[in-house]
Amino acid sequence: MQFSKIALRPETTSKVERIEQLANGALRGVDGLLARLSLGGRKAPYDDLVYEFDGGPADSLRTKHYDKSLRLLWKAGTHAPYLGFQDETSEEKQLRTMAMRAMTEQERSTVQRIGSAEYKAMLNREYTRKEKEAVVAVLSAIGHGEAYAWLVSAQLLAEVKSTGARAALTMQVMEEAKHFLVLRELVRAFEVPLPRLSAPEYVMLERVIKAKGVEKLFGMNVVVEGIALGLFGMMSHLPGLQILRLFHLDESRHTGIPNNYFREFPLARYAHLNPKTQFDRLSMLLPAVLMIPPIEPHLAELGIDACDFGGSVIRKILYLADRNGFTLPVPNAVLLTLMDNLLNAYCKQSRPTHVPRSFVAQETTRGERELSVEGEVFLGKRAAASAESISAA
Ligand SMILES: [Fe+2]
Ligand SMILES: [Fe+2]
Repeated sequence: MQFSKIALRPETTSKVERIEQLANGALRGVDGLLARLSLGGRKAPYDDLVYEFDGGPADSLRTKHYDKSLRLLWKAGTHAPYLGFQDETSEEKQLRTMAMRAMTEQERSTVQRIGSAEYKAMLNREYTRKEKEAVVAVLSAIGHGEAYAWLVSAQLLAEVKSTGARAALTMQVMEEAKHFLVLRELVRAFEVPLPRLSAPEYVMLERVIKAKGVEKLFGMNVVVEGIALGLFGMMSHLPGLQILRLFHLDESRHTGIPNNYFREFPLARYAHLNPKTQFDRLSMLLPAVLMIPPIEPHLAELGIDACDFGGSVIRKILYLADRNGFTLPVPNAVLLTLMDNLLNAYCKQSRPTHVPRSFVAQETTRGERELSVEGEVFLGKRAAASAESISAA
């Protein structure tokens, strides 16, 4: 390529270069001194000399979360066309049209996109008004949680170290935004009043957003994501809710972030041993237990035992907490027994007949695909298998 060069006076350019170097030295020097004296200094945790955020590249976090999220990126326009999202690229639309053309008439009618009116008609065929209210009560609980997940992951994005971790959190922010928007349209399609947050859920989510630094990873990626994983895994087989499988897949990736992050940047020793930090974690977990009674009548309407669900989810949360090194003030085995005792005592009150049993040994996730996704999260073991080992212990 031929460029027609512009003539400059060399003495002026070298003067400009010298002035810039002096100004840079002064700026960096003053900021460095202020930082050493804890009086401020450079705000951005970014090192432009190495083209990297503070904390280094952390490439494995980028590969496991950013690259993978982009590979598994799904569009509401493709998977839930009845919700009215226009998020497909023209290539994706073209591919879908070509695939439809290659199908037989019968195949085409099976995968035919259903419009909003047909979707609502299908919901009315499959659910009574009371059942629709129950589905919406359960899904909107997690839908409000998605709003907090969006906010908290955006805050964490500013707090984690390394380029890889920021890339991972950037994808989580985008996925939580999508979860919030798509889930909101999904529950609106049921055309029943949308409930507010229950009091225990409000307390839990507010405690999570107020948690300090990477303790937010416990509140969000362990507790809230653990509940979301359980709910999506339990509801995705219901009519019209198959799209929740994709939410379930995203949430399983989000629960893996703390483990992969702490491999690169281990939790400080004081965070393991500090009793206040440990109690703060418990204070984020306890409201999750209190969420069970208010949600019980809704799940009962759908033939799901709320205490089975609660026991199953708490077991998974405690497992994730332990795996990520989030020590709690009470050992997991004691908490699991306590949980069983509490739930059995409650069931004696809420049900006409109740035979005591271990709720933490239950598995409420349905569907082979969902179970195998959770199997990967829970160290290659089937979630049901870990339930068996707990009940045997
Ligand atoms: Fe989410
Ligand atoms: Fe998530």
